[in-house]
Amino acid sequence: MAQQVLFTRNIAAALDEIVAGCAHDRLFILTDDNTGRHCLPLLSESRVLASARRINILPDDTHKTLESLASVWQELSTRHATRHSLMINLGGGMVTDLGGFAASTFKRGIRYINIPTTLLGAVDAAVGGKTGINFNGLKNEIGVFAPAEAVLVSTAFFRTLSKEHLLSGFAEMLKHGLISRREIYERLFDTDLACPDSEAMLARLEESVAVKQHVVAEDPFEANIRKSLNLGHTVGHAFESLSLQRKRPVQHGYAVAWGLVCELLLSHRKLQFPLDTLRRFAEYVRSNYGVFAITCNDYEYLYERMTHDKKNNADTVNFTLLSDIGQVVIDQTATRDEIYIALDLYRDMFGL
Ligand code: GLY
Repeated sequence: MAQQVLFTRNIAAALDEIVAGCAHDRLFILTDDNTGRHCLPLLSESRVLASARRINILPDDTHKTLESLASVWQELSTRHATRHSLMINLGGGMVTDLGGFAASTFKRGIRYINIPTTLLGAVDAAVGGKTGINFNGLKNEIGVFAPAEAVLVSTAFFRTLSKEHLLSGFAEMLKHGLISRREIYERLFDTDLACPDSEAMLARLEESVAVKQHVVAEDPFEANIRKSLNLGHTVGHAFESLSLQRKRPVQHGYAVAWGLVCELLLSHRKLQFPLDTLRRFAEYVRSNYGVFAITCNDYEYLYERMTHDKKNNADTVNFTLLSDIGQVVIDQTATRDEIYIALDLYRDMFGL
């Protein structure tokens, strides 16, 4: 499942070059309301886009639905897409996930190119071949593994992102640092998110995406080591659900950052992950992401959410944990008591 990822300072020229190398009859570009307005203009110099047929969908995860997907299939069909057509997905994770799924199922699969416009998309969603939609109230319930022909990454799109959106994507970079090597991890602490379009940011991003690509190349269908990318997400998804239930949703990456703290606490208790490294990480999260407030009354709900995660069998909760930076141990189960203790420790650490 080789996937070409290009980092560029000239996105329009890079797109022209990639599209020229992909023989096709018709070219389509998928946007949502936001990327159509704010990101498409950054591609105005592209020659190939002049002939592209645009398909637009409504933005946000709430529209990552069967209805939006059907509207993309409908447009492709009505506007004479064939098996030899090519689609460009311009957007965050919602657009690249849904667009990738639409492309890989239309006429049993047409090729597609991802241009992520958010840091979260660039470092995670657009890379690695996972596509899909939400269904029956469950995130990414329906989908396929189908890698993009190419992923084009430009930090130019990040100039207009809010600090919250940048921090959300940065949490996945922290995760990639934790599962890879100490040098990669340490360099992240010097990253200045106030300059998201800097050379330094592009370099950190390349390093981070390379971590994901390496893991995906080894285990494209998540039979084993790709599970390392789930670090922080078992608790993180439960926090995300709780925030939705409270009607005060938090960004995905924020939930992952707090989830990482909890899962490093579990790692410390079960695998002796070093306490000084854990404390420094938790302090970084506290000062940049703040704290997700929970009480012991939330434990049961959080535990239930963790057992419903699609990575689990019956009542056991499966985690990816670390014995140190870069030392990943997959398929670690934790009992309800062990999880409750980790949540107690999280509250102690964050003064809750
Ligand atoms: N987002 C985790 C993965 O791509 O496997």
